[in-house]
Amino acid sequence: MRLVHTVAEVRREIAAWRANGESVGFVATMGNLHAGHLDLVAEAKAKTDRVVASIFVNPLQFGPNEDFDRYPRTLPDDCARLDPAGCDLVFAPSVDEMYPRGRSNIAQVSVPGISGLLEGEFRPGFFEGVATVVSILFHIVQPDFAMFGRKDYQQFMVIRRMVAELHMPLQVVGVATRREPDGLAMSSRNQYLNQSERPVAPGLFRALSAVAQRLRTGSRDFQALEDEAKKLLEHQGFKPQYLAIRDPDDLGAPRAGGRGWVLLVAAHLGRTRLIDNLEVAA
Ligand code: PAF
Repeated sequence: MRLVHTVAEVRREIAAWRANGESVGFVATMGNLHAGHLDLVAEAKAKTDRVVASIFVNPLQFGPNEDFDRYPRTLPDDCARLDPAGCDLVFAPSVDEMYPRGRSNIAQVSVPGISGLLEGEFRPGFFEGVATVVSILFHIVQPDFAMFGRKDYQQFMVIRRMVAELHMPLQVVGVATRREPDGLAMSSRNQYLNQSERPVAPGLFRALSAVAQRLRTGSRDFQALEDEAKKLLEHQGFKPQYLAIRDPDDLGAPRAGGRGWVLLVAAHLGRTRLIDNLEVAA
C-alpha cells in the first residue's frame, strides 16, 4: 500500500493501473477509521481490482461551532488498518492541496432540496461541503465504484443524486451500518462520549427499533410515533434535534404504497452529536 499526499501522485498511480485495464474502487473518509470504514474497503475490494481510500478532514463541511479542530487525526493508525484490509493507495492531502485557491469563492456543488432537510436544517452548508469535496475527490480518483456507509443515510442519498444529475461515470454503493454489540452505530465521534454517556448511547438505536416495531405492527400515526420516541430519548438524557419517519427514496413525508420508511435521528448526548437511522420495509 502506498501513502501519497498530492493529486499528481494519485493520478500517476491510477493511470498505471488503468493502463493495465484494472478497475478502481474508492472509499472517501475523514480518517480515524473503525470497522465500518473497513467494511467499505472490503466491499470495494470485492468489486474492483484496486482500492483507493482518501483521508481528509474537510473544513468545508464543518460549521463555525463544530468539531473541525478537535476531530481526531490518526493517519499512522489509519494506514496500519487500511494496509491489511487490502487498500492499495491512501490519499491524504493537505487543505492547501485540496483547495489551492482557498476555501471561499471557489466552485461548489449543491444538491438542492434534499440537502436542506433534516441534517441540512441543523448543519447549514454541510451537504454543500460534502458534495463539493466528494466531487473533487471523484474528479481526482475517477473510480468505477465509490462506497459510502448507510449510517450517513442522507449523505449517501445526496451523493447518489449528485452523481446521477451530473452524469458522473461511476456507481455509488451504500454499505450497511456496522454496529457495536449493544447496537450503537460505529462512528468516529463515539469516542467523544464519556464513561457515563457511553452506556446510554445505544438508546438511540433502541428508540429507532421501537418505532420500527410499531410500523411493522401496523401503526401509521407518524407524528405520534415521532413524538413518543423523542420523549423517550429526552427521558434518557438525550437532546434530540430531529427524529423523523420519511420516505426512503426522497426523504419526503411517508407515502401510502411506498416501499417502506427510513427512520432518521440526530441527538446530542452531552457535548456529542450522534446520528443514526433504520430502514424498514413496508
Ligand atoms: O462521511 C464522511 O466521512 C465525510 O462526510 C466524507 C464523505 C468523507 C466527505 O468528507
